[in-house]
Amino acid sequence: MAPKAGKKIIFSGIQPSGVLHIGNYLGAIAQWVAMQEVNSCIFSIVDYHAITVPQKPKDLRDNIVQTAKIYLASGIDPEKSVIFQQSDIAAHAELAWVLNTITNNSDLAKMTQFKDKAKVDLDEYEVALLSLVEKDILGGEEEIHRELARLKGMKSKAEIMGSLEGIVRMARRTAFGASHHYFKEYRERFNRVGVGLYDYPVLMAADILLYDTDAVPVGEDQTQHVELARTLARRFNGRFGDAFKAPAVMIRKESARIMGLDDPRKKMSKSAKSGYNYIALTDDPRSAAKKIMRAVTDSGSEITYDRAEKPAISNLMSIYSLLWNISLDEIEKKYRGKGYGDFKKDLSEIVGIFLNDFQKKYNRIGDKEVKAVLKKGAGQLKPLADNKMRVVKEKIGIIL
Ligand code: AMP
Ligand code: TRP
Repeated sequence: MAPKAGKKIIFSGIQPSGVLHIGNYLGAIAQWVAMQEVNSCIFSIVDYHAITVPQKPKDLRDNIVQTAKIYLASGIDPEKSVIFQQSDIAAHAELAWVLNTITNNSDLAKMTQFKDKAKVDLDEYEVALLSLVEKDILGGEEEIHRELARLKGMKSKAEIMGSLEGIVRMARRTAFGASHHYFKEYRERFNRVGVGLYDYPVLMAADILLYDTDAVPVGEDQTQHVELARTLARRFNGRFGDAFKAPAVMIRKESARIMGLDDPRKKMSKSAKSGYNYIALTDDPRSAAKKIMRAVTDSGSEITYDRAEKPAISNLMSIYSLLWNISLDEIEKKYRGKGYGDFKKDLSEIVGIFLNDFQKKYNRIGDKEVKAVLKKGAGQLKPLADNKMRVVKEKIGIIL
């Protein structure tokens, strides 16, 4: 692919790790479709990211094909954009290795997604230890209090000194015991986490930096990762000379965070415990309607947009607005005097129309076609990736 003159280079990707839902569609893919008209776009199926958590090989294979079909059915046009499988271009893993060598632990330990997934949060650990100092040790232990009470009745100096020493010993033991308890828990969780999961943002930085990307359209949860790509680009350029462009993150505000239908305080997620959390792009319209009718609602009965006070109806309104292409104001007007039930019934219909149309396109795409598209995409990118790796190797001094 020769990047078209004067056009911005856009890169984004999704992991082939299970069903994609309308959060992925509205938050990411739908904005990609619009962008391909005026930019040079590259959309990846990031399989090396997917394996940072265990995947069954057969499911992974199916999911890669399914994700490519979803790209195509959504309107990503392989004549206009490049669609490819990350592992087809070895330079992604190669560049990730080089970037690893300029990444600090502190760059990665603060990643929210890692802390959520791995449940290993150094800050939380520190807070727990500090709270011990304030609460458990100074204020807490019954035993120490009892000894303190006893101390008041003592007369002889030797007895008092003995008691004070006892208190200090007890305090030390309690402090050590409690901090050891936290330490053990932390270490157990840390030991369970895969290195890949921790290192995941560096691979993502490699994806982005390999192609001189100008902008990365993603959902809000990926902002921190794109920032790392910027940091690493600047750090590398600073140490070795210019090789990378610092990319901008691109977030469509209205769809940055589509929330779960069963819990509007958390984002819609394919790893949610209940299928009632999300509408999958492959859900049949009837079961999607059931999920919408069952979706949590707020107190009150008006259809008004207020993310803080009415998160549930606001989320449903966002979905309505984005799929039907009408403004939130118009929706409010349309449903003045009507209740949640009426609104949900209409939304079910809109989602049904969207899913029907989407799935018709999806089902027409064959596996052979998918493989050809991915092969073509990799072929277009390989020269660019190889070229960038040559520059990188030259800069760090490993080309003889
Ligand atoms: P993931 O499913 O985490 O691989 O995400 C793929 C893309 O979809 C990323 O750009 C995410 O930011 C975006 N995305 C995932 N879930 C949501 C959501 N609930 N709302 C908006 N965007 C999302
Ligand atoms: N980490 C992203 C996610 O989970 C997927 C991803 C991998 C990506 N590499 C990327 C997104 C490069 C944008 C650009 O959603």
